[in-house]
Amino acid sequence: MSTDASIRAADTRAEVRALSAAATLAGHAPSIHNTQPWRWRLTSNELDLYLDHSRGLEITDPDSRLAILSCGAALHHALVSLAAAGWHTLIARMPNPAHPDHLAQLRLDHRIPVTPAAIRHRQTIALRHTDRRPVVSTPVAADKLRSIVAAVESAGAGLHLLQPDQVYDLAAAAADCAQRTESGEAAWQSELTYWTGGTRPLGSGVPDAAIPDRAPQATVPGRDFGHHGDLPISEAHENVATFAILYGLEDGQLDWLRAGEALSAAWLTATELGVSVLPLSATIEVAVTREHLRRLLADLGHPQLVLRLSTSDPAGTAPAHTPRLPAEQVIERA
Ligand SMILES: Cc1cc2nc3c(=O)[nH]c(=O)nc-3n(C[C@H](O)[C@H](O)[C@H](O)COP(=O)(O)O)c2cc1C
Repeated sequence: MSTDASIRAADTRAEVRALSAAATLAGHAPSIHNTQPWRWRLTSNELDLYLDHSRGLEITDPDSRLAILSCGAALHHALVSLAAAGWHTLIARMPNPAHPDHLAQLRLDHRIPVTPAAIRHRQTIALRHTDRRPVVSTPVAADKLRSIVAAVESAGAGLHLLQPDQVYDLAAAAADCAQRTESGEAAWQSELTYWTGGTRPLGSGVPDAAIPDRAPQATVPGRDFGHHGDLPISEAHENVATFAILYGLEDGQLDWLRAGEALSAAWLTATELGVSVLPLSATIEVAVTREHLRRLLADLGHPQLVLRLSTSDPAGTAPAHTPRLPAEQVIERA
């Protein structure tokens, strides 16, 4: 092989390694009920992201808005990995209008200097997790909230921090939503039971270890998993939490994908600042309460997800990380 050809072959191997590592790291992304509804296809210099309907929630998420949002979080994780490997990446979102499940295409463009912030972000991916315990009594400082809002905006979405009176409106929407979903929706309940509880040996779903062992004291109730889990929690009341609505300008697939990218950007920043994030999506899942949140946002945009932001508990032991599917199950190598 000529020297030029062997250099090109080595370059291609380096690109494949970077893309493969990005898809693998993206597996840590948060997803609704830990369904991990993504599939990656890797070729020598491209990485394609697809929505995988086989792990979709037909009843809870019939139009796949939360699944696509979850895929957006995985997409952002992949971009973080590539930036930390020193790559500038070209991204085409929704590259093929005839195939709406093809959510993004990544192509490595040129090398860039690796910044300490990029390395830190990559390290934070493995540390980030959902913490459903009641919050500690220290409110989140204003400068930290500003940094989280800036992270969301840099990823192309918005974050509206709720005023105290708006938190009561949110609580009313959450109560309304709980009533609508609990009242007799057997199919909704069985989907929830399929994905949550138990020890989850197959690498997806929310295990009992991550579900509180009793109902936390809360103004805005978290998701009712239909049973108590094994996560020990205190009697603390979360009245110092900050609630926020992640929103997009429009309400289509692209906005859901962008909202997911923004969720990841916000969550990684928050984790680095010692701020815990709990996504609350029940009010988004039900059309009536989603409309209620839209009114709370006034003219800002369309609600995509509710977030509870609180100071991480430095003393308590964080819940164990939830399991993930093996990488080879979600990455297809062409
Ligand atoms: C779009 C979306 C919606 C979510 N909704 C909720 C929710 O309503 N309640 C909840 O407790 N967790 C919610 N989560 C958190 C997931 O259950 C969590 O990300 C998943 O179980 C993986 O766990 P990890 O975040 O600790 O890695 C949501 C996550 C995403 C991405």
